[in-house]
Amino acid sequence: MRESIKVFAPATVANVVCGYDVLGFAVNEPGDEVIMKLTGGSGITITKITGDEGRLPLDPKKNTVSASVQHYLNHIGKPDTGIEIELHKKMPIGSGLGSSSASTVAGLFAVNNLFDSLLTNKELVPFAMKGEELACGYGHADNVAPALLGGFVLIRSYEPLDIISLPHPEDLYAAIVYPEVDVPTKDARQMIRSKVLLKDAVTQWGNVAGLVSGLFLKDHDLIGRSMTDILVEPTRSILIPDFYKMRSLAMKTGAIGFGISGSGPSVFALTKDEGTARAITQKLQQHLKGIGINSLSFVSSVNKKGPVILD
Ligand code: HSE
Repeated sequence: MRESIKVFAPATVANVVCGYDVLGFAVNEPGDEVIMKLTGGSGITITKITGDEGRLPLDPKKNTVSASVQHYLNHIGKPDTGIEIELHKKMPIGSGLGSSSASTVAGLFAVNNLFDSLLTNKELVPFAMKGEELACGYGHADNVAPALLGGFVLIRSYEPLDIISLPHPEDLYAAIVYPEVDVPTKDARQMIRSKVLLKDAVTQWGNVAGLVSGLFLKDHDLIGRSMTDILVEPTRSILIPDFYKMRSLAMKTGAIGFGISGSGPSVFALTKDEGTARAITQKLQQHLKGIGINSLSFVSSVNKKGPVILD
């Protein structure tokens, strides 16, 4: 049994526009790193957090990484295991890219490996959902499931949990732009209306089914025309600077679809190749700069691996 481990877990794009809380996919960058050591003593300590500008709690009961690792230890019957955790945040917090999810998944993947992979990555999903519950008040799985499994993932049901890995066209790229404005997931969830009209539900489930079919059929046009959200986007887009202008720029530059990543403020486009994705991030960042907003961008193919051991 190894005594220490360093792991990476990826960022994720949740919702994929129409699939609020039920669809997500993983990207290769950004992501977070966790270094974990078995101490031989008792209890979890967070020894260091970098890259968070002091925003994340070191208290093991409040930090999503340690809290979900503690759930895991309780489950395997070793609740008092002595563990030291270092968390290195390599992605912005509150960005809509599954920041808390990447940290939590890295922690769970690390501890599970220290215990000789007692659970599969899929079996780790409910523990990671506890971390999301702590972070934003609801244990949604559309970041943590793709972060753990890689690829596109559908959460067909929450009770009971039913998670399905989906195929995707090999040439699919994501162009992601993070405008540097803060949108906490908790607030972005509270602003959504909780009742919908049946006719709107019909439109939405048509698009979800269309997107899933497009992924199976490797039909880029079907994927693109299904990336429409009439339930959540109209409300959340208000928090994102020039959202509709950015959509029009991305579509004109060759995106197959465009929308909010998770709860925002990051936006993403899917494209058929890397060059188009890079052209889109450049145009969007230029536009944001023009209206005085700093941004970060990422271009990635779909991450198939999920978390990996670095050391
Ligand atoms: N499905 C979640 C939401 C994802 O939209 O609130 C948060 O990243």
